[in-house]
Amino acid sequence: MDIIELHDIRKQYGDRIVFQDVNLTIPVGSFVVVRGESGAGKSTLLNLISGLEIPNSGKIVVDGKDISELAKIERTDFYRHEVGIIFQGSYLQPQFTLMENITLPGVFAGMPEAERNAKAQQLAQMLGITESLSHLPSEVSGGQAERACIARALLMDPKIILADEPTSNLDEENAIIVLKILNAIRQQMGITIIVASHSRDVSRFATQILFVKNKLVNSEVVELALAASEGEVNDNQGAI
Ligand SMILES: Nc1ncnc2c1ncn2[C@@H]1O[C@H](COP(=O)(O)OP(=O)(O)OP(=O)(O)O)[C@@H](O)[C@H]1O
Ligand SMILES: [Mg+2]
Repeated sequence: MDIIELHDIRKQYGDRIVFQDVNLTIPVGSFVVVRGESGAGKSTLLNLISGLEIPNSGKIVVDGKDISELAKIERTDFYRHEVGIIFQGSYLQPQFTLMENITLPGVFAGMPEAERNAKAQQLAQMLGITESLSHLPSEVSGGQAERACIARALLMDPKIILADEPTSNLDEENAIIVLKILNAIRQQMGITIIVASHSRDVSRFATQILFVKNKLVNSEVVELALAASEGEVNDNQGAI
C-alpha cells in the first residue's frame, strides 16, 4: 500500500517553477532519501507532503486521504496526528527545556499533561536522553538535541516522519546514530521515514531514493536487502 501519492503536481513561487508534472508514490514503511542540489526543491517536496505548502495544481494523497478535500481546520488536525516533522537545522525552542520542547505538539493537540509527560518520558528513554530532559537546548550536545527533535516528532504517534537534513549539524558518529534510530523507528514501529540529505551515509538505509532535478522527481527503488541488514540496532546511547 502507498502511504503517499503525488499526482501531476505543479509548484511555483511567483514565476519560479520548482516542480512540474511530478508523479510519485511511496509505499508504507519505506525509508526514503531525497537527494538533489541546493535549491533543487528537496525542502519544498517535504513541505508539500507535510501540508506546509499547497501545490498550484495536482493532487496529493496521504494515507488514503486527498488532502485538497480537507477543510483547513481538518487538515491541521490531520497532519498533527499523521506526520512528525524534523526541521532543517533542528529547531528547538531555546527558552524551553528538552522536556517542554518534546511535549509541545501535545499541548497544541490538547493532549492531557500527564499523558504527554508520560509519552515524552517513554520516548526519551527509547532515545537515550532521559538525563537531558530538564536541560535547555543550549546545555546539551548536538546529537542530544537532534534526538529531542526525533522524540518531539514521535510524540503524536505519526505514521510518517519527515526529516530535512537531520544530520547536517552532526559529526559522522552522531549522524550514524541518528540514522540508525530513524531506521529502527521504521522497522520496529512501521513508520515511513522520508529524509532530505546530502550525506552519503544516509543512502545505505534507503529503500527508495528520490532525485530532485529539473523540476522533476525521479524515483529509484533500492534493493531491500541492504537497508534491511542495518536493522538490528542496539546502540550505546538508547534502548532502541
Ligand atoms: N517561500 C518561498 N518563496 C519563494 N521561493 C522559494 C520559497 N521556498 C523555496 N523557494 C525557492 O524554491 C527553490 C527550491 O527551494 P528548496 O528550499 O526546496 O531547495 P532545497 O533543495 O531544499 O535546497 P537546500 O539543499 O539548500 O536546502 C529555490 O529556488 C528557492 O529559492
Ligand atoms: Mg532544503
